[in-house]
Amino acid sequence: MEATNSLLDTAAVGDLVLLDPLTEESLLRTLQERFQRSDIYTYIGNVVISVNPYRSLPIYTPETVQEYHNCNFFAVKPHIYAIADDAYRSLRDRDRDQCILITGESGAGKTEASKLVMSYVAAVSSKGEEVDKVKEQLLQSNPVLEAFGNAKTIRNDNSSRFGKYMDVEFDFKGEPLGGVISNYLLEKSRIVRHVKGERNFHIFYQLLAGGSAQLLQQLKLRQDCRHYGYLNRERSNLPGVDDAANFRAMQDAMRVIGFSPEEVTALLEVTAVVLKLGNVELSSGYQASGMEACSIAESQELREICELIGLDTSTLEQALCSRTVKARDEMVLTTLTVPQGYYGRDALAKNIYSRLFDWLVNRINTSIQVKPGKQRKVMGVLDIYGFEIFQDNGFEQFIINYCNEKLQQIFILMTLKEEQEEYIREGIRWTPVEFFDNSIICNLIENSKGGILAMLDEECLRPGVVNEDTFLTKLNQLFATHKHYESRETQNARHVMDASLPPQCFRIHHYAGKVTYNVTGFIEKNNDLLFRDLSQAMWAARHTLLRSLFPEGDPQKVSLKLPPTAGFQFKSSVATLMKNLYSKNPNYIRCIKPNETKTAMLFTPELVLAQIRYLGLLENVRVRRAGYAFRQLYGPFLERYKMLGTRTWPRWAGGNRDGVEVLLEELAIPAEELAFGHTKIFIRSPCTLFDLEKRRQERVVQLATLIQKMFRGWRCWTQYQLMRKSQIVISAWFRGHAQKNRYKQMKRSALIIQAYARGWKSRRLLRELKRQCRRHAAASTIAAYWRGYQVRRAYRRFFRSGASARLANFIYRRLVQRFLVGLERNLPPLSVMDQTWPPAPYKFLDDANQELRSIFCRWKCKKYREQLTPQRRALLQAKLCASELFKDKKALYPKSLAQPFCGEYLGLAQNPKYQKLHAVAKDNLVMADAVRKVNKASGKTVPRLLLLTTERLVLAEPRAAQPKATLSLGDIHGASVTRFSDGLLALHLRESTTGGAKGDLLLVSDHLIELVTRLHQALLGATARGLALHITDRFSTRGPKGDVDVTVVESERAGSEGPVCKKRGNRRMEVLVH
Ligand SMILES: Nc1ncnc2c1ncn2[C@@H]1O[C@H](COP(=O)(O)OP(=O)(O)O)[C@@H](O)[C@H]1O
Ligand SMILES: [Mg+2]
Repeated sequence: MEATNSLLDTAAVGDLVLLDPLTEESLLRTLQERFQRSDIYTYIGNVVISVNPYRSLPIYTPETVQEYHNCNFFAVKPHIYAIADDAYRSLRDRDRDQCILITGESGAGKTEASKLVMSYVAAVSSKGEEVDKVKEQLLQSNPVLEAFGNAKTIRNDNSSRFGKYMDVEFDFKGEPLGGVISNYLLEKSRIVRHVKGERNFHIFYQLLAGGSAQLLQQLKLRQDCRHYGYLNRERSNLPGVDDAANFRAMQDAMRVIGFSPEEVTALLEVTAVVLKLGNVELSSGYQASGMEACSIAESQELREICELIGLDTSTLEQALCSRTVKARDEMVLTTLTVPQGYYGRDALAKNIYSRLFDWLVNRINTSIQVKPGKQRKVMGVLDIYGFEIFQDNGFEQFIINYCNEKLQQIFILMTLKEEQEEYIREGIRWTPVEFFDNSIICNLIENSKGGILAMLDEECLRPGVVNEDTFLTKLNQLFATHKHYESRETQNARHVMDASLPPQCFRIHHYAGKVTYNVTGFIEKNNDLLFRDLSQAMWAARHTLLRSLFPEGDPQKVSLKLPPTAGFQFKSSVATLMKNLYSKNPNYIRCIKPNETKTAMLFTPELVLAQIRYLGLLENVRVRRAGYAFRQLYGPFLERYKMLGTRTWPRWAGGNRDGVEVLLEELAIPAEELAFGHTKIFIRSPCTLFDLEKRRQERVVQLATLIQKMFRGWRCWTQYQLMRKSQIVISAWFRGHAQKNRYKQMKRSALIIQAYARGWKSRRLLRELKRQCRRHAAASTIAAYWRGYQVRRAYRRFFRSGASARLANFIYRRLVQRFLVGLERNLPPLSVMDQTWPPAPYKFLDDANQELRSIFCRWKCKKYREQLTPQRRALLQAKLCASELFKDKKALYPKSLAQPFCGEYLGLAQNPKYQKLHAVAKDNLVMADAVRKVNKASGKTVPRLLLLTTERLVLAEPRAAQPKATLSLGDIHGASVTRFSDGLLALHLRESTTGGAKGDLLLVSDHLIELVTRLHQALLGATARGLALHITDRFSTRGPKGDVDVTVVESERAGSEGPVCKKRGNRRMEVLVH
C-alpha cells in the first residue's frame, strides 16, 4: 500500500496524472520535491520520467529487482524496473514485441537507463548455463561499444557519440536468445578535433593508460597522451575514471563476447594507426612547375604506420601527398597543397575509425545473433544521442537533433495524436487537448523534395561552384516564410533585428528549442569524401582487418558512382528505425537533466522547466487525464477477464461487446469509469484496471484450484477405476489359481489311492502267482525225482560194468597230478653238484621219476654250461682231458682234482728277472713252472724253469733265467710216468732232432698232472696228434751214452719232496717213490 500511497501523495504524487491543480509550476514543483526526496522516477500513466541524480542511489539492489519482479505497475513505487518489468511481461505473456524508447538531452541518463533495463531483464529472465552466457554477452557488449563510441563531452563524462538500438530476442518462455545491435552515425569528427575540456574517444586514453609496455611497443605507441596530435597533445585524466581498469574490463568483455586474441590485436593495431595518423606532419614546398606541393615532414611516424599495416611507405606517402585526377579520359597525378594533404589525412583517420566501429558492431552481432529459424519475441532498447544545443552547432548537431525530432514525433503520434484520434474513431465523447505537433519540423528537414537534407544533397551533387553560401541561399529562398526556419536573410525580410544569429548560420525552431546551425562544413561532411588514392592504399595493405574495411579500394571494383551522402544514409536508417519502432509496443523513459554542472542532487528549475516544456510533459498529462488510462479491443478484453463474470464464464455465446457490457455490469464498475467505443472498451483510471487485474489474479487462482481439483478428482477416479479393474483381474487370476491348486491336490490324492489300490491288487495277484509257481516247481521237482529214480533204476545195470575202470582212471590221474604238482613245489637245488631228487611216492611212478631226474640233471648242467666263461670252460676241458689221461691209472690223479690248473706259476709278466723268458713265450704261453731235471748220469736233480708254449717247450736255468734247452713240440714223441703219486716224467724225444741229441728228458714236477695234460693238449693243437703216454713202472730212456732203464720202486724212503733217483750202474736207474 505504501507504493500506492506514494502515487497518491498530494505533496509529490508519483503519477502526474493525479496532479491537482495541473500547471507547469505544480508539475515542476512535484518533480523537484520528489527529486529532493531521492525519488528520481515519476510516472505519467505508463511513461517514466527519470531525473538524473548524478550520484549512485541504493535503489538498484537485487532485493529491489525481486520487489519489482512480477509486480503490478501501479502498485509499487515508480521505478525504471517497473516499466522494464511491464514490458518484459507484456512480451512474455501477451506475445507483443516491445520497444523501450529512452529520450532526453545529452547527459540526462539515457545510457544508464538503458543499462538498467537490460540488467533488470537479465536478472528476472530464467537462468541456465546457455541463457547466462547469452545474457553475459549482451551485457558485455556495453563496455566494448562505450570504449570505442563514447567520449567525455562538456555535458557528460561518458557521452555516447553514436546512436544505439539493440534488439534483444527472446524465446516463447522469455529466455533471452541473443540480439542485434544497430548503430547510428558515429560522431567521427571527434577523431581529428575536439574542443578544449572534452576528450577524444575513450579507447585511445584507455589503450595508452592500460596497455602493457609490451603491447604498446608492439603497436609502436608511446604511453604519453601529450605525444599525440589527435589527443590535442594534452594529458586528460578524468576524476573518478580509471582508464587502465576500463581497458582491462573492455578486454575481458571482448573475451566474453568471443573475440579471438588475433582479432583483438588487429583491432588495437588499427586503433593505433588512427592515433598515429594524427602525428603525420606535412610540410610545404614547390614543384619544378612552381605549383605548391606538400611532403611528409618527418617520415618516422609514417614508417611505423606502414610497418603496422604491412604497406609500402612510398605508397602511403604518395596517397597522402598527391591525388589521381581523371582529365579527359586520362589519369593525371596532381600534388596536394598542405591543407589538402591534412584534409586527406584527417578524412582517412575518420574513415578508418568509423568503419572500424561498424566492423566492431558487426563482429559483436555475429557473436550474439540468434540462429535462424527460432520463433522469437523482440524487445528493442533505443539509446540515441540526446538533443544538443551548443554555442556552435554543425552538421552533426543538425543530424542528431533531426533524429530527436523524429523520436519526439513518434512519441507525439503514439501518445497524444494517436490517442485523440482513437477516441474520435471509437466515437467517444472527448474534449480535444492542444498539443504541439512537430511533423512540420520533421518535414522541413527530411522532405525528399524540398527538405533541408534534400537541398544539401542537391548542392553536393550539383556541378559547378559548390559551397555553403549557395546552399544557404537556396534554403533562404525555399523557407523564407517557414515558421520554424530563420536566418539573417529571412529576418531581414521580416525586419527583425537579431544579433544572435550570425551570417553563415540558419536557425531551426525545434520542438526542444531554437538551434542555430553554422553551415560551414555541411557540404564536406555530407559528402564524406575520401580520396580514392587513400582507399586504394588502404586496400593494398597486408593487414587483413584494415584491408577489409576498404573494399572500394580494390582497383578491380572501381565505381564511378558517388557513394550516398551522409545525410541520405542517416535519413534512410532513421526511417528504418522508425518503421521498426512503429511495429512494436512503445514504452517511454524520458530522461531529464537537473543541472548543467553534473552536480549531485542539484535541481535547476529553469533548466528542468525548459525540458518539461519541450518534452511536452504537461500535454502528456492532460491527455492522459482527459482520456482513459486503458483501452483494448472487446475480443481480447473479454477473453482476458471473462472468468470474472458468472455469465461470461466459461463461454459467452453472444457478441464480444455485449459480453464485455454484461461482465462489467456484473462486476459493478461505476459507469463513469467506462466508455464503450465502437471496437474497444476504455477504462478511465488505472486503479480500475488494477482492480480488475487483481480480481482476475484471484480468480485465476480459484480457477487453477478448480482445475486442479477437477484434475485431481479425475486422476483419482481413473486411478480408482484402474485399481478396480486390476483388482478384478487379480482376484480372477487368484481364484483360478487356487482352484487349479485344489484340483491338482485332488488329482494327486486320487492317484495315490489308485496307486495303493492297484499295488495291493497287484501284490495279491503276485502272491497268488508265486504260490502257483512254487506249487508248479514242487510238482516239477517231485516229477523229476521220480523220473530220475526210475531212470536210475533202469540204468543201474548198465552203469555198474564200466564204473571200476573209470574210477581207477580217475584216481590214477589225480595221483599223477598230485605227484607232479608236489614235485614242482619241492624241486631240489639247482647246484650241479647236488644229486638229490625226491623219491617217487608210488611205485608205479619210479620210472617216470628217474626220467624226470635225468632230464632235470641235464637241464641243470646245460644251464651251468651256458653261464661258464671261456677260461673256465678251457680249465674244465683241461680237467676233463686230465681225467681221460689219468683217471684210475695214476695214484697222483685224485690228489690233483682239488688243485686248480693255474698254468702260470712263475709270474713271468710281473717279475722283471724273467723278461727274456717272457719274450720267448710271447703270447703263446701255455704253462710256466719250476721243475727239477734229473741227471741221467748221476741221478741228481737240478732246478730248472719250464716254459710250455703252443709250439715249443723251453727249459731255463733259474738263476740266469736264460733258456737252456728249447724243444719243438714235434720233437716229443712220447712220455712216461709212474703209477704212484710222484711227479716224475720222462719225455721221449726223437733222435733225429737237435733237441733230442742229448737224449730224453727226466723231469720232476709238482704239477705233473697239469703239465702232462697241457702238453697233450698243446701237441693236439700243434700236430693234431696227442701225446703217447705210458703209465708204467719200468721204462727206458735214451741218454747220450746209451739207453738207461728206469725202474720205479715203491719205497718208504722216498722223501716227501719227490722221488729219489739212484743210479745203479751205467744202464740202470732206480727211482724210489711212495
Ligand atoms: N540513475 C542514475 N543514477 C546515478 N547516476 C546516474 C544515473 N543516470 C545517469 N547518471 C549519471 O549521469 C551520467 C550521464 O549519464 P548518461 O546515461 O551517460 O547520459 P546520456 O546517455 O543521456 O548522455 C552518468 O555517467 C552517471 O554518472
Ligand atoms: Mg549516452
